[in-house]
Amino acid sequence: MHESPIPIDSLRRSKGTYEDAIGLPPAVYSDGAWHDFEMEAVFGSEWLCVGRQEQIPDVGDYLAVTRAGEPLIVVRGADGEISAMSAVCQHRGTCITASVDRADDDMLDPPEWVSGNARQFRCPYHYWVYDLDGQLVGAPEMTRTAGFEVGDVRLPKIAVETWRGFVFVNFSSDPPALAPQLAKLDAALENYAVDDLITVDPVVMRDVPFNWKIMIENFMEMYHNSRLHHGIHDFAPSSGAWYADHEAGDAAMFGFNATVEPDGGFNPTFKALFPPLPNLTMEDRQRIVFAFVPPTLLMGFQPDSAFWFAVDPTGPTSHDLSMAYIFPASTVDLPDFGETLEAAIDGVANFNRQDMPTNVATQFGMQSRFAPRGRYSWQEGVLAQFNSWLVDRYEAASD
Ligand SMILES: [Fe+2]
Repeated sequence: MHESPIPIDSLRRSKGTYEDAIGLPPAVYSDGAWHDFEMEAVFGSEWLCVGRQEQIPDVGDYLAVTRAGEPLIVVRGADGEISAMSAVCQHRGTCITASVDRADDDMLDPPEWVSGNARQFRCPYHYWVYDLDGQLVGAPEMTRTAGFEVGDVRLPKIAVETWRGFVFVNFSSDPPALAPQLAKLDAALENYAVDDLITVDPVVMRDVPFNWKIMIENFMEMYHNSRLHHGIHDFAPSSGAWYADHEAGDAAMFGFNATVEPDGGFNPTFKALFPPLPNLTMEDRQRIVFAFVPPTLLMGFQPDSAFWFAVDPTGPTSHDLSMAYIFPASTVDLPDFGETLEAAIDGVANFNRQDMPTNVATQFGMQSRFAPRGRYSWQEGVLAQFNSWLVDRYEAASD
């Protein structure tokens, strides 16, 4: 338990629905003490997405990622199962997946993480060697050290669960399973065969200069679609926004944005560039699904493809943002897949060129002495859901 740096009574005014809730206190978007509290209250015990299972198909394939400031290894073990462990060497604390071969002009920059395939993980500092299960199996010149046994040392294990191909970790020692809490989202996504989709390599933007919640809010609310994106979002106007009810015990928030015609797409043609996903109904083909598994995984499902973002706070006013498209195998195998993918990426860039500066401007304004706790439109009902979810966790973690 920790003391909340913001009075809980004040936070509670953000719980409810768009009809009655107000925005979170502005300090939650920039205050350092708040950030420390939130990392514990929210990221300390929730399921955090680290990637897709098809990124590590073979034994020894591993992802080196951080979540909430913790360097992690997510690896396909000798038994073919995915496990997760801390990347902190249990000798003197060096991160074993950090690149230590850097150019002179970036040698003091924050670590860069190296993913790949390995039979063992060796700390670059003193060559302590761990197997794929995280067990220490070798440590040079330690035989004179009284009572030291390699068998006693291992990289701390971290809970891991895979849902529809997305891999999640949890820093709690015995967290409740995630999948049973995603039944409503499963039903909404049934026709998208999410397990079988294949991700392209995510693009990672480091230290994006606004609070992680501003990124989530911008992704999930559809109020701005017909305003900020006026002219380029007209195929899916804000008036077609609809959010599913969110109840305690639901580990996802999601909604639909109806499109004016079937098979819309986020590009200058406003039409899907790839063939429609194989099992979609006409209803599916006339809407976009936006989904959020808090606190880290954002997903969008279009008629011809999907995309997923992972959001990882790096400080009170910054986060790392990982973004990738995800497709059925039949689409990835198309002869012109690479060229069409580039066109799709260029198309989405038009939206990012409006969203990212807006998020920067929101961060700046929320640090003002005149920052609001504003009211919400029905087209941003998901924001009140997110606030309620957050405040439940802030309350549970505070004294
Ligand atoms: Fe946007």
